[in-house]
Amino acid sequence: EAAEKGGFETFMLKEIHEQADAVAETIADRTVREDGVDLDEPGALDEELLKGVKRIVVVACGTSYHAGLIGRYTIEEWARVPVEVEVASEYRYRNPVLGQGDLVIGITQSGETADTLAAMRLARERGATVLAVTNVMGSQATRDADGVLFTRAGLEIGVAATKTFLCQVAVMYLLALRLAELQGTMDAPRRRELIADLKRIPHAIAELLEGEEERIQPVAERFGPSSFFLYIGRHIGLPVALEGALKLKEISYIATDAYAAGEMKHGPIALLDEATPVVAVATDSPVLDKVVSNMQEVRARGAHVIAVATEGNTEIGEHAEVVLRVPKLDWMLQPILAVIPLQLLAYAIARTRGLNVDQPRNLAKTVTVE
Ligand code: G6P
Repeated sequence: EAAEKGGFETFMLKEIHEQADAVAETIADRTVREDGVDLDEPGALDEELLKGVKRIVVVACGTSYHAGLIGRYTIEEWARVPVEVEVASEYRYRNPVLGQGDLVIGITQSGETADTLAAMRLARERGATVLAVTNVMGSQATRDADGVLFTRAGLEIGVAATKTFLCQVAVMYLLALRLAELQGTMDAPRRRELIADLKRIPHAIAELLEGEEERIQPVAERFGPSSFFLYIGRHIGLPVALEGALKLKEISYIATDAYAAGEMKHGPIALLDEATPVVAVATDSPVLDKVVSNMQEVRARGAHVIAVATEGNTEIGEHAEVVLRVPKLDWMLQPILAVIPLQLLAYAIARTRGLNVDQPRNLAKTVTVE
């Protein structure tokens, strides 16, 4: 087993370090063209369909649901197609309004999650077209779908998803760009810019990971004893907050809440006291000043802000006790980087508590029952 971990102390840490390669694999031959993404590969959906699609529904569970949320922001922003993102276990029992012309995307790393498969089947019965985004060839999801887009993360053993999540996000970016091109909602120069930035992601991940564990360890030691963490974010930073909070609760068993920062005053702010760490996703974006005012609200209650921010932003340091920096990319692409320090924070806290991060209690890698 030690050999399989390739020198890392756990599978999860190994898989976090495989993220640059995993994303590189996932985008490689799909971004050969400088001004557009190519997804017309074996098993993919008919592109005529993508060209005409008017409504998209994403169904998924757990971490895959968070990838779907990021997909919503990018598809709506770039391709101007409305997207709903639904927890599969809810959607399947909701008598959903679906029919011909709708595209349903099932995101499932394993391709075997019972609720996601059931939601995909229901969508098909109602006449929608179904696309599976999965990491496993030959999985049930590939058989239940009209088309498949594979993430190419390689085998993931750690129960808490890491590299498969980054690859799902990468696929959602690719799909959003392809849709934008087919639907004529984005001009070629903008597409060129975004594709150039997409190709920078693997290098940016590697750069970010360099020395990051050492930077995060003292943060984990300082805040690890806390019994509760709040995570906040806005817009595309919100799914990052949700995913960071999920990682921490999954592997460290610390209670977390993740909230749209603007909703904080409608509830979670009551939870804050001098002992509460608040993780704020504060990468550069058009809503950053709003996030900053939420950080100020947090500090006014005596709580502590741990911010994830874009390299080069000097202002954030004035509003946070700890700043975890990620390389600068187009603001819509920042989530794929911003989640990494939060994976490592959860990891370091869990390890400091002496826990088994690869196999957390009560959790399974694949949930094949309801
Ligand atoms: C389980 C795993 C999670 C995963 C979720 C959905 O809860 O522990 O890591 O995100 O299932 O799995 P899927 O294979 O459908 O992406």
